Amino acid sequence: MSNEVKKTYTDAELDKMSNAELAALGTELDDVTVAYRKERFPLENDPQEKRAAAGINTWLAISLLAGIAFLGIYIFWPWQPKFHGDEGLWIFSLYTPLLGLTSGLAFIALGVAIVQYVKKFIPEEISVQRRHDGRSSELDRRTTTALLNDAWETSTFGRRKAMQGLLGGAGLFAGLMLIAPMGGLIKNPWKPRHAMDYHGDGTLWTQGWSMLRDNPGLKIYLGRDTGAVAEAHTNERGAKHYTTQGVSRLVRMRPEDLAAASMETIFPLLEEDVNDGDKYDPTRDVYEEHMHSLHGPRNPVMLIRLRSQDAARATERQGQEDFHYGDFYAYSKICTHIGCPTSLYEAQTNRILCPCHQSQFDALAYGRPVFGPAARALPQLPITVDEEGYLIAKGDFIEPVGPAFWERKS
Ligand code: FES
Repeated sequence: MSNEVKKTYTDAELDKMSNAELAALGTELDDVTVAYRKERFPLENDPQEKRAAAGINTWLAISLLAGIAFLGIYIFWPWQPKFHGDEGLWIFSLYTPLLGLTSGLAFIALGVAIVQYVKKFIPEEISVQRRHDGRSSELDRRTTTALLNDAWETSTFGRRKAMQGLLGGAGLFAGLMLIAPMGGLIKNPWKPRHAMDYHGDGTLWTQGWSMLRDNPGLKIYLGRDTGAVAEAHTNERGAKHYTTQGVSRLVRMRPEDLAAASMETIFPLLEEDVNDGDKYDPTRDVYEEHMHSLHGPRNPVMLIRLRSQDAARATERQGQEDFHYGDFYAYSKICTHIGCPTSLYEAQTNRILCPCHQSQFDALAYGRPVFGPAARALPQLPITVDEEGYLIAKGDFIEPVGPAFWERKS
């Protein structure tokens, strides 16, 4: 069939053709046979056309409003986390569902509008085309452009200004909805987010031990994790209930609690949160405070008790000469590579191994890296014992814990 179509045209001939003629020629050249084509609204000022356009505009307006609502909620709704018993918990609990509802509605309404437009305004057409090989000629390119122009004109979208505006607005807000959540990632990293506590003050260079920074008189024990959880109790009527009252997740440690050539993971334990030994009170509930300490992301510390003959040949970093207590050395457990827990202590070689990328640190040489990708020593926590013989921190780390970041000096 295509063999019968004239394939060569001069520019002058092409210039003389109308868009409709070029489009028709394009279909022929492409071996396209239009089997069926029907305009949706062939008559001007058809009331049905107006109704169809109004319906689509309504969907676009819904999408636009939902997009605006999403951004309004995202920016102005009280998003700060609330916990049980806090005022405003109910309002906060609506934050995520409202974001989901408004964004879902915006995208669904936009999708419905686009589908409706295609169904109601794009001419109904059934075409059949044969496949061609090879690159397109200039003629093909011109005629294809004409076909696209023709599709644009017959879609009638170009003359629907209200719909164009609404679609532009809805599309803009749909795009903003995709970008806006990234706003949550933009934070001032230097700004303290709360008073210093078991989680530090919210900046990268603080953690639970930093409570000693501005308050050197504070006593922070090296708390051992007992793994204790809420206990079941049976009341006088035989009913079972669970309580954390009297449950001590963290307990104080004495040097004699750790055998030579062994390691224990410890967490900061404030004096006021101690509930063990001679201070044990079965009616006190300090479980939540202990869990805050355990969940402080940079709190874990490896307390290592070296064999005495190994400790005798340990070297200290300048400024950290008195950070150890006898044979006891405390190193941050957060790998200085990218922050995994350096959980493996090999007593034979006195090396600390990070299982993530196999960095190794020398426990006899202030935790300096001796193998693998980590480039900085593990920060060392200064420790001692108090008058009762419990292990305590003497101060905060003197450098930030964890992976490097550009404010770091070490
Ligand atoms: S995080 Fe420890 S070696 Fe990579």
